Amino acid sequence: MIMKKRVFSGSRPTGRLHLGNYLGGLKGYLALQERQDLDCIYSIVDLHGITTPYDPKTYQKQIREVALDYLSVGLDPKKCHLMVQSQVPEHVQLAYLLATIFPVSRMEQLPTYKDKKKENPDYVNVGLFYYPILMAADILLYKAEVVPVGKDQVPHIEVTREIARKFNSMFGQVFPEPQAYLTPGAYVPSLKSEGKMSKSAEGSYILLTDNLQTIKARLAGAPTDTGRGEKVPVMGGVANLLALVELFEGKEARKKLEGQYAGNGIRYGELKERLAEAIYQELQPIQIRRKKFEEKPKLVAEILEEGKQYCSQIARQTLDQVRRAMGLV
Ligand code: TRP
Repeated sequence: MIMKKRVFSGSRPTGRLHLGNYLGGLKGYLALQERQDLDCIYSIVDLHGITTPYDPKTYQKQIREVALDYLSVGLDPKKCHLMVQSQVPEHVQLAYLLATIFPVSRMEQLPTYKDKKKENPDYVNVGLFYYPILMAADILLYKAEVVPVGKDQVPHIEVTREIARKFNSMFGQVFPEPQAYLTPGAYVPSLKSEGKMSKSAEGSYILLTDNLQTIKARLAGAPTDTGRGEKVPVMGGVANLLALVELFEGKEARKKLEGQYAGNGIRYGELKERLAEAIYQELQPIQIRRKKFEEKPKLVAEILEEGKQYCSQIARQTLDQVRRAMGLV
Protein backbone atom coordinates (compact mmCIF):
# COMPACT_ATOMS: atom_id res chain seq x y z
CA MET A 1 0.00 0.00 0.00
CA ILE A 2 1.32 3.45 -0.85
CA MET A 3 1.07 5.98 1.96
CA LYS A 4 -1.02 8.93 0.93
CA LYS A 5 0.30 12.36 1.79
CA ARG A 6 -1.99 14.27 4.08
CA VAL A 7 -3.53 17.66 3.34
CA PHE A 8 -4.98 19.94 6.01
CA SER A 9 -6.60 23.34 5.82
CA GLY A 10 -9.28 25.31 7.62
CA SER A 11 -11.55 28.35 7.51
CA ARG A 12 -12.65 30.47 10.43
CA PRO A 13 -16.45 30.61 10.84
CA THR A 14 -16.52 34.40 10.89
CA GLY A 15 -19.13 34.95 8.19
CA ARG A 16 -20.36 33.68 4.86
CA LEU A 17 -17.66 32.87 2.34
CA HIS A 18 -17.17 35.20 -0.63
CA LEU A 19 -15.69 35.03 -4.11
CA GLY A 20 -12.20 35.72 -2.78
CA ASN A 21 -12.42 32.74 -0.41
CA TYR A 22 -13.72 30.60 -3.27
CA LEU A 23 -11.12 31.42 -5.91
CA GLY A 24 -8.28 31.93 -3.45
CA GLY A 25 -8.84 29.01 -1.11
CA LEU A 26 -11.66 26.63 -1.87
CA LYS A 27 -10.63 26.04 -5.49
CA GLY A 28 -7.34 24.75 -4.10
CA TYR A 29 -9.18 22.46 -1.68
CA LEU A 30 -11.26 21.16 -4.60
CA ALA A 31 -8.27 20.43 -6.81
CA LEU A 32 -6.49 18.52 -4.05
CA GLN A 33 -9.47 16.33 -3.10
CA GLU A 34 -9.39 14.90 -6.65
CA ARG A 35 -5.87 13.53 -6.26
CA GLN A 36 -5.53 9.85 -5.45
CA ASP A 37 -2.17 10.34 -3.75
CA LEU A 38 -3.58 12.72 -1.13
CA ASP A 39 -5.77 12.36 1.95
CA CYS A 40 -7.51 15.68 2.61
CA ILE A 41 -8.92 17.04 5.86
CA TYR A 42 -10.78 20.35 5.73
CA SER A 43 -11.71 21.95 9.00
CA ILE A 44 -13.95 24.66 10.35
CA VAL A 45 -11.55 26.23 12.82
CA ASP A 46 -14.00 27.46 15.45
CA LEU A 47 -11.31 27.86 18.13
CA HIS A 48 -9.46 30.32 15.91
CA GLY A 49 -12.70 32.18 15.23
CA ILE A 50 -13.17 33.15 18.89
CA THR A 51 -9.88 35.07 19.08
CA THR A 52 -11.61 38.07 17.46
CA PRO A 53 -14.96 39.54 18.62
CA TYR A 54 -17.90 37.18 17.90
CA ASP A 55 -21.42 36.35 19.06
CA PRO A 56 -21.76 33.07 21.01
CA LYS A 57 -25.52 33.02 20.33
CA THR A 58 -25.08 32.71 16.58
CA TYR A 59 -21.78 30.84 16.54
CA GLN A 60 -23.19 27.36 15.97
CA LYS A 61 -25.18 28.72 13.06
CA GLN A 62 -22.05 30.29 11.57
CA ILE A 63 -20.21 26.97 11.87
CA ARG A 64 -23.03 25.25 10.00
CA GLU A 65 -22.90 27.95 7.32
CA VAL A 66 -19.26 27.16 6.58
CA ALA A 67 -20.08 23.44 6.43
CA LEU A 68 -22.77 24.30 3.87
CA ASP A 69 -20.36 26.53 1.96
CA TYR A 70 -17.84 23.69 1.84
CA LEU A 71 -20.38 21.18 0.57
CA SER A 72 -21.96 23.58 -1.89
CA VAL A 73 -18.72 24.43 -3.69
CA GLY A 74 -18.24 20.73 -4.26
CA LEU A 75 -16.17 19.37 -1.41
CA ASP A 76 -17.26 15.77 -1.43
CA PRO A 77 -17.29 13.68 1.76
CA LYS A 78 -16.42 10.67 -0.39
CA LYS A 79 -13.17 12.37 -1.39
CA CYS A 80 -12.21 14.31 1.74
CA HIS A 81 -13.00 14.65 5.44
CA LEU A 82 -14.83 17.66 6.85
CA MET A 83 -14.51 18.39 10.55
CA VAL A 84 -15.07 20.98 13.28
CA GLN A 85 -11.79 21.76 15.07
CA SER A 86 -13.13 21.94 18.64
CA GLN A 87 -14.73 18.49 18.31
CA VAL A 88 -11.24 16.98 18.41
CA PRO A 89 -9.76 18.31 21.68
CA GLU A 90 -6.29 17.00 20.79
CA HIS A 91 -5.79 20.19 18.72
CA VAL A 92 -5.66 22.20 21.95
CA GLN A 93 -3.59 19.64 23.82
CA LEU A 94 -0.94 19.52 21.12
CA ALA A 95 -0.96 23.33 20.86
CA TYR A 96 -0.02 23.63 24.53
CA LEU A 97 2.81 21.14 24.18
CA LEU A 98 4.18 22.92 21.10
CA ALA A 99 3.87 26.32 22.80
CA THR A 100 6.45 25.22 25.36
CA ILE A 101 9.18 24.98 22.73
CA PHE A 102 8.54 28.17 20.76
CA PRO A 103 10.11 31.56 21.59
CA VAL A 104 7.84 34.49 22.50
CA SER A 105 10.09 36.90 20.62
CA ARG A 106 9.54 35.07 17.33
CA MET A 107 5.78 35.22 17.82
CA GLU A 108 5.69 38.97 18.33
CA GLN A 109 7.27 39.57 14.92
CA LEU A 110 4.47 37.93 12.96
CA PRO A 111 2.71 40.32 10.55
CA THR A 112 -0.65 38.61 11.09
CA TYR A 113 -0.55 39.23 14.84
CA LYS A 114 0.37 42.85 14.33
CA ASP A 115 -2.48 43.29 11.80
CA LYS A 116 -5.09 41.76 14.09
CA LYS A 117 -3.88 43.95 16.94
CA LYS A 118 -4.47 46.98 14.77
CA GLU A 119 -7.90 45.76 13.60
CA ASN A 120 -9.19 45.18 17.14
CA PRO A 121 -7.04 47.26 19.49
CA ASP A 122 -9.45 46.65 22.40
CA TYR A 123 -9.41 42.89 22.03
CA VAL A 124 -5.77 41.83 22.08
CA ASN A 125 -6.17 38.58 24.01
CA VAL A 126 -3.66 35.83 24.76
CA GLY A 127 -5.59 33.53 22.40
CA LEU A 128 -4.78 35.85 19.53
CA PHE A 129 -1.11 35.67 20.39
CA TYR A 130 -1.42 31.88 20.56
CA TYR A 131 -3.17 31.70 17.17
CA PRO A 132 -0.17 30.53 15.09
CA ILE A 133 0.69 27.82 17.63
CA LEU A 134 -2.84 26.43 17.46
CA MET A 135 -2.63 26.57 13.69
CA ALA A 136 0.66 24.68 13.75
CA ALA A 137 -0.98 22.09 16.00
CA ASP A 138 -3.91 21.75 13.53
CA ILE A 139 -1.46 20.86 10.80
CA LEU A 140 1.06 18.77 12.76
CA LEU A 141 -1.60 16.76 14.60
CA TYR A 142 -2.32 15.03 11.29
CA LYS A 143 1.29 15.16 10.08
CA ALA A 144 -0.02 17.06 7.08
CA GLU A 145 2.52 17.88 4.39
CA VAL A 146 0.41 20.03 2.08
CA VAL A 147 -1.53 23.08 3.30
CA PRO A 148 -3.66 24.99 0.78
CA VAL A 149 -3.78 28.62 1.95
CA GLY A 150 -3.74 32.19 0.70
CA LYS A 151 -0.52 34.21 0.56
CA ASP A 152 -1.31 35.99 3.82
CA GLN A 153 -1.00 32.69 5.69
CA VAL A 154 2.49 31.81 4.49
CA PRO A 155 4.23 33.26 7.61
CA HIS A 156 2.09 30.89 9.70
CA ILE A 157 3.19 27.90 7.64
CA GLU A 158 6.77 29.04 8.18
CA VAL A 159 6.15 29.02 11.95
CA THR A 160 4.71 25.52 11.63
CA ARG A 161 7.83 24.34 9.82
CA GLU A 162 10.06 25.90 12.47
CA ILE A 163 8.11 24.20 15.24
CA ALA A 164 8.32 20.84 13.46
CA ARG A 165 12.08 21.20 13.02
CA LYS A 166 12.64 22.29 16.59
CA PHE A 167 10.48 19.52 17.99
CA ASN A 168 12.28 16.89 15.93
CA SER A 169 15.69 18.13 16.97
CA MET A 170 14.76 18.25 20.67
CA PHE A 171 12.75 15.04 20.98
CA GLY A 172 13.44 12.92 17.89
CA GLN A 173 11.81 12.70 14.49
CA VAL A 174 8.01 12.94 14.76
CA PHE A 175 6.75 15.62 12.34
CA PRO A 176 7.19 16.22 8.62
CA GLU A 177 7.70 19.84 7.51
CA PRO A 178 4.53 20.96 5.77
CA GLN A 179 4.43 23.13 2.67
CA ALA A 180 1.98 25.84 1.66
CA TYR A 181 0.05 25.14 -1.53
CA LEU A 182 -0.88 28.43 -3.15
CA THR A 183 -3.86 28.35 -5.49
CA PRO A 184 -2.96 29.80 -8.88
CA GLY A 185 -4.80 33.06 -9.58
CA ALA A 186 -5.64 33.32 -5.93
CA TYR A 187 -5.74 37.10 -5.71
CA VAL A 188 -9.26 38.48 -6.01
CA PRO A 189 -9.41 42.27 -5.78
CA SER A 190 -11.84 44.27 -3.68
CA LEU A 191 -14.82 45.92 -5.40
CA LYS A 192 -13.70 49.10 -3.68
CA SER A 193 -10.52 50.65 -4.86
CA GLU A 194 -8.00 49.13 -2.46
CA GLY A 195 -6.67 45.75 -1.47
CA LYS A 196 -8.25 42.33 -1.79
CA MET A 197 -11.81 41.15 -1.40
CA SER A 198 -12.35 40.78 2.33
CA LYS A 199 -15.11 39.92 4.78
CA SER A 200 -14.09 42.76 7.03
CA ALA A 201 -14.36 45.47 4.34
CA GLU A 202 -18.01 46.32 3.67
CA GLY A 203 -18.75 46.79 -0.03
CA SER A 204 -15.62 44.91 -1.08
CA TYR A 205 -17.09 41.47 -1.64
CA ILE A 206 -19.60 39.28 -3.46
CA LEU A 207 -20.94 36.38 -1.38
CA LEU A 208 -21.27 32.86 -2.74
CA THR A 209 -24.98 33.07 -1.90
CA ASP A 210 -25.67 36.37 -3.74
CA ASN A 211 -28.33 36.29 -6.46
CA LEU A 212 -27.96 38.08 -9.79
CA GLN A 213 -29.70 41.22 -8.57
CA THR A 214 -27.45 41.50 -5.51
CA ILE A 215 -24.33 40.94 -7.59
CA LYS A 216 -25.44 43.74 -9.94
CA ALA A 217 -26.10 46.03 -7.00
CA ARG A 218 -22.69 45.30 -5.47
CA LEU A 219 -20.91 45.88 -8.76
CA ALA A 220 -22.84 49.11 -9.23
CA GLY A 221 -21.04 50.41 -6.13
CA ALA A 222 -17.59 49.75 -7.59
CA PRO A 223 -15.79 53.01 -8.46
CA THR A 224 -14.98 53.84 -12.11
CA ASP A 225 -13.66 56.77 -14.13
CA THR A 226 -14.58 58.46 -17.44
CA GLY A 227 -13.80 55.23 -19.29
CA ARG A 228 -11.05 56.49 -21.53
CA GLY A 229 -7.51 57.70 -21.44
CA GLU A 230 -4.04 57.09 -22.73
CA LYS A 231 -3.09 54.52 -20.16
CA VAL A 232 -5.24 51.84 -18.59
CA PRO A 233 -5.04 52.26 -14.79
CA VAL A 234 -2.99 49.60 -13.01
CA MET A 235 -4.41 50.40 -9.58
CA GLY A 236 -7.78 51.34 -8.13
CA GLY A 237 -11.41 50.62 -9.07
CA VAL A 238 -11.01 50.28 -12.84
CA ALA A 239 -7.96 48.04 -12.55
CA ASN A 240 -9.92 45.83 -10.15
CA LEU A 241 -12.91 45.60 -12.48
CA LEU A 242 -10.65 44.57 -15.32
CA ALA A 243 -9.03 41.93 -13.11
CA LEU A 244 -12.49 40.54 -12.34
CA VAL A 245 -13.36 40.54 -16.04
CA GLU A 246 -10.23 38.50 -16.70
CA LEU A 247 -11.08 36.05 -13.90
CA PHE A 248 -14.67 35.46 -15.04
CA GLU A 249 -14.75 36.26 -18.77
CA GLY A 250 -11.18 35.46 -19.77
CA LYS A 251 -8.11 37.27 -21.02
CA GLU A 252 -9.60 38.16 -24.41
CA ALA A 253 -12.52 40.03 -22.85
CA ARG A 254 -10.06 42.05 -20.83
CA LYS A 255 -7.89 42.87 -23.83
CA LYS A 256 -10.91 44.10 -25.75
CA LEU A 257 -11.84 46.45 -22.93
CA GLU A 258 -8.29 47.73 -22.69
CA GLY A 259 -8.49 48.52 -26.41
CA GLN A 260 -11.71 50.44 -25.84
CA TYR A 261 -10.13 52.43 -23.02
CA ALA A 262 -7.53 53.79 -25.42
CA GLY A 263 -10.15 54.25 -28.19
CA ASN A 264 -13.87 55.02 -27.96
CA GLY A 265 -14.05 54.46 -24.23
CA ILE A 266 -15.48 51.77 -21.94
CA ARG A 267 -19.15 51.85 -21.04
CA TYR A 268 -19.08 50.71 -17.43
CA GLY A 269 -22.82 50.07 -17.27
CA GLU A 270 -22.52 47.39 -19.93
CA LEU A 271 -19.27 46.04 -18.49
CA LYS A 272 -20.81 45.59 -15.05
CA GLU A 273 -23.96 44.02 -16.47
CA ARG A 274 -21.96 41.38 -18.38
CA LEU A 275 -19.57 40.78 -15.51
CA ALA A 276 -22.49 40.25 -13.12
CA GLU A 277 -23.95 37.63 -15.48
CA ALA A 278 -20.59 35.85 -15.76
CA ILE A 279 -20.10 35.78 -12.00
CA TYR A 280 -23.64 34.56 -11.43
CA GLN A 281 -23.14 31.76 -13.94
CA GLU A 282 -20.23 30.50 -11.86
CA LEU A 283 -22.19 30.79 -8.61
CA GLN A 284 -25.51 29.30 -9.71
CA PRO A 285 -24.53 25.60 -9.50
CA ILE A 286 -23.02 26.27 -6.07
CA GLN A 287 -26.27 27.82 -4.91
CA ILE A 288 -28.35 24.93 -6.24
CA ARG A 289 -26.17 22.43 -4.38
CA ARG A 290 -26.36 24.54 -1.24
CA LYS A 291 -30.18 24.40 -1.29
CA LYS A 292 -30.06 20.61 -1.44
CA PHE A 293 -27.83 20.40 1.63
CA GLU A 294 -29.82 23.05 3.49
CA GLU A 295 -32.79 20.73 3.24
CA LYS A 296 -30.83 17.86 4.80
CA PRO A 297 -29.39 19.03 8.15
CA LYS A 298 -29.12 15.42 9.32
CA LEU A 299 -26.89 14.50 6.42
CA VAL A 300 -24.63 17.48 7.11
CA ALA A 301 -24.39 16.45 10.79
CA GLU A 302 -23.46 12.91 9.74
CA ILE A 303 -20.73 14.17 7.42
CA LEU A 304 -19.17 16.20 10.26
CA GLU A 305 -19.49 13.23 12.61
CA GLU A 306 -17.58 11.02 10.18
CA GLY A 307 -14.87 13.69 9.98
CA LYS A 308 -14.67 13.86 13.75
CA GLN A 309 -14.28 10.08 14.10
CA TYR A 310 -11.68 9.85 11.37
CA CYS A 311 -9.64 12.74 12.75
CA SER A 312 -9.90 11.64 16.39
CA GLN A 313 -8.24 8.35 15.65
CA ILE A 314 -5.25 10.00 13.94
CA ALA A 315 -5.09 12.72 16.61
CA ARG A 316 -4.91 10.19 19.46
CA GLN A 317 -2.03 8.39 17.80
CA THR A 318 0.01 11.55 17.19
CA LEU A 319 -0.59 12.89 20.67
CA ASP A 320 0.44 9.60 22.19
CA GLN A 321 3.66 9.67 20.20
CA VAL A 322 4.33 13.29 21.23
CA ARG A 323 3.72 12.57 24.92
CA ARG A 324 6.16 9.71 24.83
CA ALA A 325 8.78 11.73 22.96
CA MET A 326 8.46 14.57 25.50
CA GLY A 327 8.80 12.26 28.48
CA LEU A 328 5.25 12.77 29.70
CA VAL A 329 4.52 9.06 29.90
N1 TRP B 1 -5.36 31.01 9.90
C1 TRP B 1 -6.13 30.49 8.79
C2 TRP B 1 -6.87 31.68 8.14
O1 TRP B 1 -7.17 32.64 8.77
C3 TRP B 1 -7.13 29.46 9.22
C4 TRP B 1 -6.46 28.23 9.76
C5 TRP B 1 -6.45 27.79 11.04
C6 TRP B 1 -5.73 27.28 9.00
N2 TRP B 1 -5.77 26.60 11.17
C7 TRP B 1 -5.31 26.29 9.92
C8 TRP B 1 -5.37 27.20 7.65
C9 TRP B 1 -4.52 25.21 9.51
C10 TRP B 1 -4.58 26.13 7.25
C11 TRP B 1 -4.16 25.12 8.17
O2 TRP B 1 -7.16 31.60 6.96
